[in-house]
Amino acid sequence: MPTYSFQFEKINLGDLAPSIAQALALAKAACEKAYAPYSHFKVGSAVLLDDGTYIVGSNHENAAYPAGICAERAALSSLDMSNHQRKVEAIVITYQSESEMKDPLSPCGICRQSIAEIQHWQKAPIAIYMCSPLDEIIKVADAKHLLPFGFNNDYLKMD
Ligand code: THU
Repeated sequence: MPTYSFQFEKINLGDLAPSIAQALALAKAACEKAYAPYSHFKVGSAVLLDDGTYIVGSNHENAAYPAGICAERAALSSLDMSNHQRKVEAIVITYQSESEMKDPLSPCGICRQSIAEIQHWQKAPIAIYMCSPLDEIIKVADAKHLLPFGFNNDYLKMD
């Protein structure tokens, strides 16, 4: 039977590349700006672009629950997709919560699809760093591994 496997890395905070450590610091700061009055689950995200700049986002919830947006998509939505001049190298996500569960944050399915969309356009892998409030860090070097058999625009007729 065909199988699919992928590798991930567990990384200590002190072993992060400086640009990723900076992204994690920005993601932590972004958590503080989360608007999460319903879940009390505050997420921060920092996206590292290939020119060394960062964009950040946090989750913004809504009384009409589905209208809320995750931190990853809040950050990625400010990426200029009109010319694809800058590529996304990495996205770092972390959280604060009152729950007992302190595992590294695993992005939701919609965010995985959004990250995959950008990766597909830029034709270069996006690394995902999933972090915990205790600074446990899991790295996946290519976003495709978090969305095997993903849908993309190759299926669509494009002009
Ligand atoms: N959330 C994110 O911001 N990113 C994820 O990858 C998982 C979930 C947010 C959505 C909602 O505001 C809260 O966390 C609880 O689901």
